[in-house]
Amino acid sequence: MSDDRANGHEDLAERRYEPPQGFADNAIVGDPSVYERAKEDPDGFWEECARDLHWFKEWDQVLNWDPPEVQWFVGGKTNVAYNCLDKHIEEGQGDKTALIWEADEPDQGKTYTYNELAAEVRKFANVLKDLGVEKGDRVCLYLPMIPEVAIAMLACARIGAPHSVVFSAFSAGALRDRLNDAEAKVLVTADQSPRGGKANPLKQNADKALEDSPSVQSVVVVKRGGGEAPMTEGRDQWWDDLVGGASDECPAEEVDAEDMLFVLYSSGSTGKPKGIVHTTGGYLTHVKATTKMVFDLKDDDIFWCTADVGWVTGHSYLVYGPLANGATTVMFEGTPAYPENDRWFDVIEKHAVTILYTAPTAIRSFMKTGTGPIEKHDLSSLRVLGSVGEPINPRAWVWYYENIGGSRCPIVDTWWQTETGGIMITPLPALTTAKPGSATHPFPGIFPGLYDDEGNEVEGAGQGNLVIKRPWPGMLRTLYKDPERFRETYFETYGPEVYFVGDGAKRDEDGYYTITGRVDDVMNVSGHRVSSAEVESALVSHNAVAEAAVVGKPDEDKGQAIWAYVILEGDRETSDELMKELRDHVRSEIGPTSRPDQVVAVDDLPKTRSGKIMRRILKKIAEGDQDVGDTTTLADPSVVEDLQKQASAQT
Ligand code: WTA
Repeated sequence: MSDDRANGHEDLAERRYEPPQGFADNAIVGDPSVYERAKEDPDGFWEECARDLHWFKEWDQVLNWDPPEVQWFVGGKTNVAYNCLDKHIEEGQGDKTALIWEADEPDQGKTYTYNELAAEVRKFANVLKDLGVEKGDRVCLYLPMIPEVAIAMLACARIGAPHSVVFSAFSAGALRDRLNDAEAKVLVTADQSPRGGKANPLKQNADKALEDSPSVQSVVVVKRGGGEAPMTEGRDQWWDDLVGGASDECPAEEVDAEDMLFVLYSSGSTGKPKGIVHTTGGYLTHVKATTKMVFDLKDDDIFWCTADVGWVTGHSYLVYGPLANGATTVMFEGTPAYPENDRWFDVIEKHAVTILYTAPTAIRSFMKTGTGPIEKHDLSSLRVLGSVGEPINPRAWVWYYENIGGSRCPIVDTWWQTETGGIMITPLPALTTAKPGSATHPFPGIFPGLYDDEGNEVEGAGQGNLVIKRPWPGMLRTLYKDPERFRETYFETYGPEVYFVGDGAKRDEDGYYTITGRVDDVMNVSGHRVSSAEVESALVSHNAVAEAAVVGKPDEDKGQAIWAYVILEGDRETSDELMKELRDHVRSEIGPTSRPDQVVAVDDLPKTRSGKIMRRILKKIAEGDQDVGDTTTLADPSVVEDLQKQASAQT
């Protein structure tokens, strides 16, 4: 039963929302035949999308598929920064606003036209070259939500140096692991990261990571705070000093369609993050087309994607997708509650945002506060709303539609992943009748399916493991330096041709897809992927912990809350202080999203005879469910009762 049915008389998932009247008349995609065309000739569809980009040299072949290996637009030469900047300038759009930066403090923001942004990008590209960065060298960006993060990404793209953006709230340890895995040559960071009126000492964190990151030769530091950061002579230099002397002439490197654009680390079901590799031509084709078609993005739209650039959503729909379309994109540095809890609505009104793309967790937190903050503002500029990152429950969907969208704006609930590069399952706002909670239909040219655990395809209405049956341009190409893990993770379960998503899904009689959540040991906390194994290994790195098991528990605000069970070292007694210390320890080891909500000390864990922890049972115990299901495969079924007692005594 959905939470919505439990909370009222009506099942909101049963409601139907037609596209607004007249929306199709001047929509980017108003003709449903696009689906049929793309189904009959997917390569032709994507080729048409690719023609929307600038190419120095056209491709010789659209798709080269040698499962699981994939290449798109083989032989084509292009440049992502050229497509995001120069192309629009050449088309007479140089004075149009490219980026609106809304700073943490409401009066400190600034805007960049396409000309201005392009000049900054060229200068920083020259800085990188002067630091010895060559095509193919990795540059790591550990930056807050400031214009320099977009400038640095585009500068990397301009010279063909892949970037690796690390979320600025990640710990020194997480940064160190990513720097080392990518063998980054340069790190770009900032003295501070102000958020919600508080300044976080980013450079100090970076310095801790750099103690053990031998590949990094130079560090560029943006002065975002007062400039009081420790600087290491010969290694660290201020952004302004370097950019001040740089030329704004820098031709865009002609890169191969399959050259790497970026690596972005994402949690997997083992402790080690996966370095997800995206390349150039296919990725940009996919994000440009989806930004335009899914959000009905037009020339005069103001597009606000609230995701941090440290996540894939920020890469694809804050930076690359909107800029490739020559749109105006909004970047917000702050938090929803600062200086007041109406900040987001203030931003929408101030910049006359027309398209808002956010996560269900944000919507649920606004629901909790109520409509007061919304009522202070005129949100009539909005015309399309998007959702991403986790399943949106029907109640949040309807609330979003009515209260933020004024019952006027179609909602696109977009399902995709870091691995997919861009949106995969989504409504098209002029065409799709929405069902609250459902991501609806595959985007044209995308072929999802459902498989059961035995490897049989589920036909018609049903439920199963979500798969993608045919390559798409934005698909990850490999895991950085680990092609074997790439194959095992995505192309082993159902063979080398079928991409294993890691999510479960339902498909109804109308062919609508509803994502039910991860089927592996990855949790989704406030729309962020958190690996159970990674939290476990952070816990056992504390000297009081002998063993740990971590599960996600359904949570009204965050989607999932993190529950950790620990077995303490023999001589340690449990206490509230110790449990808090363990939660904080995980926070400082990984980052704030990974901090457990609850740590329970237990004597034993439910394990199979082969020693595998049965997280299914731990989930049930976290949920307070007395019936934990089948326990016959446990080495010692009696642990369940003890666990239940210990959990209820400590929570
Ligand atoms: C989940 C974020 C339901 C899903 C773009 C996926 C969603 C994971 C949706 C990827 C959605 C994302 N409905 N679930 N609309 N969008 N997810 O890599 O479990 O950070 O596998 O990419 O988020 O998270 P990632």
